Amino acid sequence: MSEAEISVGSKRKSRGSNNHGNSSNATNHVKRHSISLNQPVVTELAPECSAGIRVTFRDITAAAYRTKSGIQKTPLVKSGALSSILGLELYLKKEYELRTGSFKERGARNALLKLSEEERKVGVIAASAGNHALALAYHGGQLDITVTVVMPVVAPIMKISQCQEMGANVIVHGATIAEAKDHAMIIKEKGGQIYINGYDHPDIIAGQGTIGLEICSQVEDIDAIIVPVGGAGLIAGVAVAAKNMNPDVKIIGVEAMRCMSYTEALKAGKPVRAASHVSLADGLAVPTVGLNAFVTAQPLVDKIVTVSEKAIALAILRLIEMEKAVVEGSGVVGLAALLDGLLPELKGKKVVTILCGGNIDTTVLGRCLERGLAADGRLLSFTVVVKDAPGGMNSLTQVLTESGASIKDILHERAWLLEDVFAVRVRCMVETRNSDHTEKVKNILSRKFRHVEFIGMSDHSTDTLQGP
Ligand SMILES: Cc1ncc(COP(=O)(O)O)c(C=O)c1O
Repeated sequence: MSEAEISVGSKRKSRGSNNHGNSSNATNHVKRHSISLNQPVVTELAPECSAGIRVTFRDITAAAYRTKSGIQKTPLVKSGALSSILGLELYLKKEYELRTGSFKERGARNALLKLSEEERKVGVIAASAGNHALALAYHGGQLDITVTVVMPVVAPIMKISQCQEMGANVIVHGATIAEAKDHAMIIKEKGGQIYINGYDHPDIIAGQGTIGLEICSQVEDIDAIIVPVGGAGLIAGVAVAAKNMNPDVKIIGVEAMRCMSYTEALKAGKPVRAASHVSLADGLAVPTVGLNAFVTAQPLVDKIVTVSEKAIALAILRLIEMEKAVVEGSGVVGLAALLDGLLPELKGKKVVTILCGGNIDTTVLGRCLERGLAADGRLLSFTVVVKDAPGGMNSLTQVLTESGASIKDILHERAWLLEDVFAVRVRCMVETRNSDHTEKVKNILSRKFRHVEFIGMSDHSTDTLQGP
């Protein structure tokens, strides 16, 4: 076993030779996989993903019929609060309400139901950091099909254990999703499982397209549907479904600025590898869009925009505060684009955005909220020099109390203040009501103290949330 490969485990007793489940000690079951890292890296795609297949409206309606008993219809709800701040009629398609927390179930169930009897017996394999793995694991369990998922070491622990709970054989391998995929291909060569690409398999794209059918049947006369774009399977399916039902509807894709693979594909006229960096929208960090997805989507997509990390964090915060909805980074990019003013042509229009997933780690959510507050101008970070004597600190807290700011963090830094041993530099983070209030607090601090320096993210610059 390579160092990057952690375990293979399943908690479900399932059919076929991949059954490692055991009812008494299933939770402790860990099987070491026999494939070594010395084997050549397999990079080719599954045959269905290298052909440039255009998914049709008929594929999607067939997928809707096929999956209707296993996938519940998700709500499409008008948001009064967001509509009024955005100056348009905004409808939210709540895909995060599906059993495993994302739209990926639609494609996964469709692909599993399309397997032949023989294929069902050998089972399926996929590489995924989260939502596709969860969807396959759950529906594989429902349909009694053995599912193996290869997840990169960066996959959230919670998602890894959920996949195991749902009965999948989970192999944690590789630093990136690309490495996990190479490994899955090696396993497939030996075991003969069917590889199911999470964004480019035609049956996956057709399944995702059922969202478009639902949207058009739930609200009439929609002007635009805003769709998150990663590998582009979702936008491809939704575009085919929606444009067939209403040719006037605009399809707008949104990518994370930290991985602009669709934009790069548009420039090159074909899928090419784009730079990909860690993003709050982890599900969208796919360096190369799928070929089938691209040839299906490209003639139908009207516009693509990209959003910053700061806009994503702010959209997560707005959905929690205004809609009481917890949505992951990849699922909020449509709202992020609207809030960031990237789609001014939609003012006064009837717009749907797909909230495609809600699987966000609690720790990441905490970080997002803090960054969202900062991006919203509701956190102010500064250093100030006060007397290092009784009453010194009081002079600062009194000013803050009077200005209505609430202290979140405070730290004394004596060692670096060399010029005055009777003074201390205090590093402080305070919470304010809004960006106007932040400006007021800044003015008061500047008036009351000679040495104040403002730092952090309240300057509204676009790159303040971007790391390496
Ligand atoms: C929550 C969420 N939204 C959007 C996407 C993007 O879908 P696609 O890769 O089909 O473009 C993903 C992909 O994993 C996702 O998990």
